[in-house]
Amino acid sequence: MTISVTPVSDAFVARIDGVDLRTDHSSAVLCAIENALDRFAVVVLPAQHLSDDEQIEISKGFGDLSYALNHGRSVGQNARLRPELYDISNLDEKHGILGEADRRRQWREADKLWHTDRSFIDADTTYSFLSGRIVPPTGGDTDFADMRAVYDDLPQEMKDRIANLSAVHSIWHSRALAGGVDFRSDEIATMPPVVQPMVRVHARTGRRSIVLASHASEIVGMGLEEGRALLAELKDFALQPRYIHSHVWTEGDLVIWDNRCTMHRGTAFDDKTYRRDMRRTTVQGPSRYARTAA
Ligand code: OGA
Ligand code: MN
Repeated sequence: MTISVTPVSDAFVARIDGVDLRTDHSSAVLCAIENALDRFAVVVLPAQHLSDDEQIEISKGFGDLSYALNHGRSVGQNARLRPELYDISNLDEKHGILGEADRRRQWREADKLWHTDRSFIDADTTYSFLSGRIVPPTGGDTDFADMRAVYDDLPQEMKDRIANLSAVHSIWHSRALAGGVDFRSDEIATMPPVVQPMVRVHARTGRRSIVLASHASEIVGMGLEEGRALLAELKDFALQPRYIHSHVWTEGDLVIWDNRCTMHRGTAFDDKTYRRDMRRTTVQGPSRYARTAA
């Protein structure tokens, strides 16, 4: 089988064919995928149809798994999925469509804001793997933005201005922006705010990118208003159509993105009528495939 990498957006999204991860996730295959991710920042692998076990096993090759708290549940509600999997669906633990008043509906709304996964955690979060298990007939696309190209295109004076700045990131900030739920103190305590640099140098490629996730609430050392105005100005620049690609899902797709240099967001669909079952794994730290024999 020959692996082919075909750009689907000029600069940062590619489709990878000739790979069946269910039967072959050898080091050679994972290495080819990661090399493609260095060049592009998002890759689409069609027709993978992964099971939970397969998705978890493959993800582990790329780093250490981060575990999902799958917040947003009311007390007494069980998670639908095991903790290795982030539940990116509109389904409850019985796999039925979430009730109108279900708290998890509101929780997931924040995924529709531009963000990077887990920027609110002090960890070297790298790739996310999102598998499309059930895809609605229309809508529910996922948009991606290339934060390397955005950084490269910033005027030099802006690059100088942000070079040494950091921002405070908190999951509660993006949740509040998305309309809020009544967060419980036990939920809030699990994820205190963290500080992240605004300019990130990629450990593998050396390329710089700008960090603007909606979890960023303020800029360290700047007044709240001034910091938010700067974040808004940078976001206006970053979210121009030329930096964005929309992925339209087909069942069985596996999409992998590099959180170090992209942002993404979910988009609306008729979520009271159709099921959308997406399951995500996310990893941190250096890849592990190179440490095991092919
Ligand atoms: C995610 C996410 C958006 C979507 O899986 O991390 O933000 O389109 N998903 O479901
Ligand atoms: Mn996300």
